Amino acid sequence: MNKREFLRTVGGLGAGLVFGPELLAQYADVPPAQLAGDEPFWAAVRAKFRLNPDYVNLENGYYCFQPEEVLEQFVGHVRRVNFLGSRYMRTVKDEDKDRVRRRLATLAGCGPDELIITRNTTESLDTVIAGFQWSAGDEAVMAHQDYGAMLDQFRLMARRWGVVNRYVDIPRNPASDDEVVQLYANALTPKTRLLMIPHLVNITGHVLPVRAICDMAHARGVPVLVDGAHAFAQLDFRIPDLHCDYYGASLHKWLSAPLGAGILYVRRDRIAGLWAIYGDGHPDDSIDKLNHTGTHPSHTDLGIENAIAFHEAIGGARKEARLRYLQRYWSDQVRGRPKLILNTPDDLRRSCAIANVGIEGVTPARLAQVLFELHRIWTVAIDAAGVQGVRVTPQVYTTPAELDAFVKALRAIAAAPPAA
Ligand SMILES: Cc1ncc(COP(=O)(O)O)c(C=O)c1O
Repeated sequence: MNKREFLRTVGGLGAGLVFGPELLAQYADVPPAQLAGDEPFWAAVRAKFRLNPDYVNLENGYYCFQPEEVLEQFVGHVRRVNFLGSRYMRTVKDEDKDRVRRRLATLAGCGPDELIITRNTTESLDTVIAGFQWSAGDEAVMAHQDYGAMLDQFRLMARRWGVVNRYVDIPRNPASDDEVVQLYANALTPKTRLLMIPHLVNITGHVLPVRAICDMAHARGVPVLVDGAHAFAQLDFRIPDLHCDYYGASLHKWLSAPLGAGILYVRRDRIAGLWAIYGDGHPDDSIDKLNHTGTHPSHTDLGIENAIAFHEAIGGARKEARLRYLQRYWSDQVRGRPKLILNTPDDLRRSCAIANVGIEGVTPARLAQVLFELHRIWTVAIDAAGVQGVRVTPQVYTTPAELDAFVKALRAIAAAPPAA
């Protein structure tokens, strides 16, 4: 079967077989960087999603819906749990959840005893922040560009325990990794108990040199909590390689898992030092003590397995390469153009799918509104922490033609800015 014939038939296969043996063999030796621009391959991926024909969706950062087959498998899990009722809960639920946890641990490259399934990044990171034994005067370091929910949780620790929060500002276009490492190093003091960093800044797409920052912090005795909300399943990496102590991520973003799925990684030797939020009978050194969810939507846990199968059928390295290719496809047409302001680092290594662009004299809210109402392109306005623009998050189903339409719209708006 030739490539074209195979791609025509691939739409009918199950998610686990998205790329059946023929296609796998055909593409096995194609390096990710080369496959990134292979439109027939990505058209086969796109065909797996049900897309809204009314607009172009360039806002997959909040969450990215499931491919159709993964969604159908999820609905099957809802039906099965509903059909079996408490018999499901009392017989196979724990076994199922543990199997999914192990699968996730393999994807994350850590031990299954270092990872739990949570509802999302907020729950994961806030569990760590609230789990510290804080004393008045202890310091925590974070960035103004971190996510609001975690900054709120640190403010709560300040009110409750007298923690002193210190903030840095992540530069838009650092000249080197060392510039970013030094930024954080300068904020640490002998009183610093915890450093929180984003793996990937959600409003700009900036990817931080996480490992170098962790090594620097550890040399000063400070553990590091990493916000991986946008990095997990967008970037191809293994958590232990980052040298961090704690890592939280959402699975409903770049893994396209059902809504309400996340992970928390705690390095083995850090588990005993955390308090659980909810009382639980597990020993202090078991990560399960942090996972006392009560009765919850078990079908969501099951759907994660199908989302992993879809992700792995594409391949993490291939997905990362395609996402970076798509981002650079449009941002290279915008960088340095009059009136257009890119809020994402120029250095290829410092970004992947996400980028942010503003237009001089146009507020982010107005820009997002005009993009949607006049050009049928859905983005999100960002007007915070020194960043003004719209965040653009393509996904594996996005086409270069859609991005051409976006660039054309940006140029038209820049040439004739709308009234406020
Ligand atoms: C950097 C970052 N951290 C945390 C979160 C929270 O994710 P969730 O709402 O899935 O908990 C988000 C959400 O977009 C985010 O962008």
